[in-house]
Amino acid sequence: MLPNVLQPSATDHVPVLATEVRECLAVQPGDTVVDATFGAGGHASLLAADLHGRGKLIAIDRDPTVRTYFEQLEQQVSAQLRLLRGDFGVVLPQLAANGVRADAILLDLGVSSMQLDRPERGFSYSVDAPLDMRMDSSQELTAREIVNEWPERELGTVFRRYGEERYAKQIARAIVRRRKEQPFERTGELVDAIKASIPAPARFGEGHPAKRVFQALRIAVNEELSSLETALPAALEMLRPGGRLAVIAFHSLEDRIVKQFLREKERGCTCPPDFPVCVCGHEPELRAIQRRPVRPSDAEVAANPRAASARLRAAVKA
Ligand SMILES: C[S@@+](CC[C@H](N)C(=O)[O-])C[C@H]1O[C@@H](n2cnc3c(N)ncnc32)[C@H](O)[C@@H]1O
Repeated sequence: MLPNVLQPSATDHVPVLATEVRECLAVQPGDTVVDATFGAGGHASLLAADLHGRGKLIAIDRDPTVRTYFEQLEQQVSAQLRLLRGDFGVVLPQLAANGVRADAILLDLGVSSMQLDRPERGFSYSVDAPLDMRMDSSQELTAREIVNEWPERELGTVFRRYGEERYAKQIARAIVRRRKEQPFERTGELVDAIKASIPAPARFGEGHPAKRVFQALRIAVNEELSSLETALPAALEMLRPGGRLAVIAFHSLEDRIVKQFLREKERGCTCPPDFPVCVCGHEPELRAIQRRPVRPSDAEVAANPRAASARLRAAVKA
């Protein structure tokens, strides 16, 4: 039987680009660090170690099961630790509005290995499980509801926009046809419907044929992109001058949001490009630490294939 309580184990989430994150954030004793995606606390434990017992680490995660890992971290470090459960798109603006200031903020986006590898969470297309995909199990919206209740057009849009799925329309049509006979309950049923609705060569092409639809559903269930869009300005507001922000994205949709945000805040001036002189007077608010996103080394990808698509972008508050 599957365990219903998350037990930390040797196969837990491996922090991605850990050395690079640590270098970018350059945490000093006495700093306030915010890890807005605590997960199994891999990055948090490294950043907390850099506090050398002085300072504070605020951990945020919307998944209540991370508490086990947080309690473990509490045993290991002497710096002040706090866990806030919730969506960083809500929690960071609240912290900013309450005047909480930080020297380093990390967002390591997406799902953790614990979420992916627990079949009962329904994130994986390789194991048959209930159609769930919620990072926060107290949230109402599940993948089951989207698949069984959203109109065909909206399903197609979600698959195209969030999964960049070429056969979005066909898959949406097949889902709606099938759910009239019998609602979808399990990930396996959805995988079968996807496979049946795409041309045969696409079934054997690059990657699993359900990969893009699963990514799209996960993003929609957890409203991942809108959370990120709200979180970034709040993170900037929270940073003290000289404070550092690091974001790890795992797909182009979230990386695009991060890249555009950093570009806009680095540029400062918001005047139209054809204005001969600046009239807006906006100053740059961030300075990028690297020109290009940092990618994992071949050795890291060999040791942890899930790191393959990671892109780290980091900036310092002006
Ligand atoms: C890639 S894992 C982070 C792993 C972590 N850095 C570590 O080293 O263990 C992403 C975590 O962020 C959480 N998460 C994702 N989106 C979130 C959001 N909008 N608000 C709060 N937590 C979120 C997930 O629940 C998951 O635990």
